[in-house]
Amino acid sequence: MTNNELIAKAFEAMEYAYAPYSGYRVGAALLTKDGKVYTGCNIENAAFGPTNCAERTAFFKAVSEGDADFATICVVGGKDGNVGDYFYPCGVCRQVMAEFCDDSFEIIVAKSCDDYKVFTLDGILPQRFSKSNVSEV
Ligand code: THU
Repeated sequence: MTNNELIAKAFEAMEYAYAPYSGYRVGAALLTKDGKVYTGCNIENAAFGPTNCAERTAFFKAVSEGDADFATICVVGGKDGNVGDYFYPCGVCRQVMAEFCDDSFEIIVAKSCDDYKVFTLDGILPQRFSKSNVSEV
């Protein structure tokens, strides 16, 4: 799976965004280390709080199906589905990444299949709280 192919999958997932309140349509494509892709979109709610981001939709789909070993996630999004800029993962989604991914997990933010940036989890969430900080685990 190339970066370009993963980005294309994130754009496909964005088509399913349920965003009647904000209008921001977001898609994610999460690649496991053994090459499987889980996609996700944002799913909003009239009560606002239950809204789920695209990244977490992808993570929760994967974990709920027994996959929890991840290499890369790609995120795309924009108002009314117009992807004019890079769309960065929110803090809550970064924390979910911290639960399941190591320092070198890659986060791709893309404007198109050819215009993208790659970050690592350690780069976008340094000094993070994780399972190693919970003594009971
Ligand atoms: N959103 C995501 O899907 N991912 C993020 O990382 C940040 C925000 C969604 C949630 C909401 O539906 C919309 O974007 C506007 O915040």
